[in-house]
Amino acid sequence: MKHLLSTADLSRDEAVLILDTAAQMAATQERAIKKLPTLRGRTVVNLFYEDSTRTRISFETAAKRLSADVINFSAKGSSVSKGESLKDTALTLQAMGADAVVIRHPASGAPHTLATSGWTQGAVLNAGDGTHQHPTQALLDAYTMRCHLVGDSGTAEVTGRDLAGLRVAIVGDVLHSRVARSNVDLLHTLGADVTLVAPPTLLPVGIGPWPCRVSYDLDAVIADERPDAIMMLRVQRERMSNAGGGFFPSAVEYTRRYGLDGRRMARLPDHAIVMHPGPMNRGLEISATAADSPRAVIVEQVANGVAVRMAALYLLLAQETPGSTLQEDAR
Ligand code: NCD
Repeated sequence: MKHLLSTADLSRDEAVLILDTAAQMAATQERAIKKLPTLRGRTVVNLFYEDSTRTRISFETAAKRLSADVINFSAKGSSVSKGESLKDTALTLQAMGADAVVIRHPASGAPHTLATSGWTQGAVLNAGDGTHQHPTQALLDAYTMRCHLVGDSGTAEVTGRDLAGLRVAIVGDVLHSRVARSNVDLLHTLGADVTLVAPPTLLPVGIGPWPCRVSYDLDAVIADERPDAIMMLRVQRERMSNAGGGFFPSAVEYTRRYGLDGRRMARLPDHAIVMHPGPMNRGLEISATAADSPRAVIVEQVANGVAVRMAALYLLLAQETPGSTLQEDAR
């Protein structure tokens, strides 16, 4: 693995290796001193062309916990606002010796372009590109599901395991969601059963070949499929040209049919977990009761993001450093 661009590129073994490595990373994060020397002397650049809170902070934390030098670059306030191209920015970063570039970009495919162009020699990690992919989000979601729903006593027990047979419902604005795409690909590879639930207007054209079921009826999916995990997607108003107009009749109507509130949540199986990638529109796709309930693992998803991104950076960067093993560094 040289880059992490899409969950569709991951084999089952690679995905399980990342999850197992994340479990090892998470164990090191229980200690008083959380820093490992693994990426000492390496440089990780966070190249963010789109707003982000948790993904950017999470990648930065992950790189720092592995002792890498971190350079944060955001398009606002840089020469990008003067019209500099991705190519020239990448060449600048290359000149500064970036070993890894973590990129978030509004254009689907930008990380792929960066990885294949030769503008940077470093590993490219996709932190979200347009409506296309967000692989580390899907990996942290799978990791969170594995912690809660596979095996019965913590992550050490489930090493080497996938998510075979788990039922996952992904609900809401699938059309604009790179989180949904990444999750469908990864969950399928890991053996889970996925149902996408959305109004027809918020499903992409050409969804037919996706390896999942599709439904327009959330109540029916909860009653008939008894999902083990329900993942609520943010309604992405910034990607809708006229603030939601045309995609659904009204916010109230959307919430009534596709929102997760306390009443719907009570109909989920007792063990089911409630997920959301954040940021949430409280009161639209998820009510405060659901978001703050003991079944919600939303804050845990954020915490797990650090361990998963440490694992991804480690597997892409440290393995090529002679003499460095996680076992030795974690001692
Ligand atoms: C997601 C994203 O940016 O794609 N958020 C995240 O990374 N935590 C989902 C979203 O913005 O709704």
